Amino acid sequence: MKRLGVNIDHIATLRNARGEKHPDPINAAKKVISYGADSVTIHLREDRRHIIDSDVKRIKKETFLPVNLEMAATEEMQQIATEVIPNAVCLVPEKREERTTEGGLDVITEENKLKTFLDPIIQKKIRVSLFVSPDISQIEAASRVGANIIELNTGTFCDLLIENNKKEYLKEFEKLKEASVYGKNLGLEIHGGHGLTFESVKYIASIPEIRELNIGHFLISQAVFDGIEKTINTMRLEIDNSQKK
Ligand code: PXP
Repeated sequence: MKRLGVNIDHIATLRNARGEKHPDPINAAKKVISYGADSVTIHLREDRRHIIDSDVKRIKKETFLPVNLEMAATEEMQQIATEVIPNAVCLVPEKREERTTEGGLDVITEENKLKTFLDPIIQKKIRVSLFVSPDISQIEAASRVGANIIELNTGTFCDLLIENNKKEYLKEFEKLKEASVYGKNLGLEIHGGHGLTFESVKYIASIPEIRELNIGHFLISQAVFDGIEKTINTMRLEIDNSQKK
């Protein structure tokens, strides 16, 4: 069975809109696990626009949940990760002005820097995931810097699917499939994430090499209409059904 990781950043977005304590992302983390998610993802951004430092500390202190900490490769984040010791870190490129992560890491250009950056994280036995495009040379570089996991950026595919641009979305889907096989053959665990919905997950979950899907914005916003339990159950069902096809 594929694992479902739920990104709860936008629970924190709602909380921060009022500057109060409700809704509490830690409570949300406990709930999503009880409804069938396998892990929780939080992205501590440089500008702390959603998840804040105390959320990261509390999620480890107040729960025993598997936590995937998304972060940029900065000294500040390295220090936080090695103090908090999440189950995994997922490195993403981060631009202050972007609304959400806009693309994969350029592991090739940053290769030496990333090796040094990851050293203390690997020493603490934190699993390392790199968010990359389905690009063979980036995947090779991810393996060289010591990543255990690559999370393939499904965002481009999801956008093309929404546009109903069949020729292009099928092309991107092929790239994701080839990248998954290539990465697995290098010994990497393959994850996928970004922009996934009930529709797009049907494609991505059908890729046998993908072990985990990380989904945030759609799940949290759909929960406004259907509730978080029903939304997670439906997503689980879509993932499980896609594997049977
Ligand atoms: N994976 C990564 C690396 C991300 O940066 C994000 C967005 O925070 C997600 C998955 C989840 O994307 P979405 O919120 O579009 O489901």
